Amino acid sequence: MLSSSLQNRLNEQAIVAAGNSYAPYSGYPVGAALLTKSGEIFLGCNVENASYGLTICAERSAIFNARTAGHSHWSAISIYAPKPPPPLPCGACRQVLAEGGNTPLVIVVSHDNTIQQFSFDQLLPHLFG
Ligand code: THU
Repeated sequence: MLSSSLQNRLNEQAIVAAGNSYAPYSGYPVGAALLTKSGEIFLGCNVENASYGLTICAERSAIFNARTAGHSHWSAISIYAPKPPPPLPCGACRQVLAEGGNTPLVIVVSHDNTIQQFSFDQLLPHLFG
């Protein structure tokens, strides 16, 4: 269970991260804020490239930032996009999120500030692992 003040902080940080997105090709900026089990927050944004396939999503960017700093367990991730549709994590990000020691709460913040919450099992049942 995540306190509402911590959830708010995570959502605010996802919005901050979206401000650093580099998305000139899709025009769809995304920010993510990953809460580690130890209580630290790591940010990520999508970074696109003229060679489209090199793009990295905000979620994986946040996970790789956390792992680079030595963290391998997370308890929640907030994802924000300032434009529709709501930024539900793609399949690749769900699979990468799965290897965080436990099943994180996934919070999706939409352009109109609608907040949706998903348990990890809802998003990726029967995962490969
Ligand atoms: N994207 C993310 O970063 N996270 C999501 O949850 C959905 C999609 C990015 C990838 C690409 O830069 C852009 O959004 C459009 O797909």
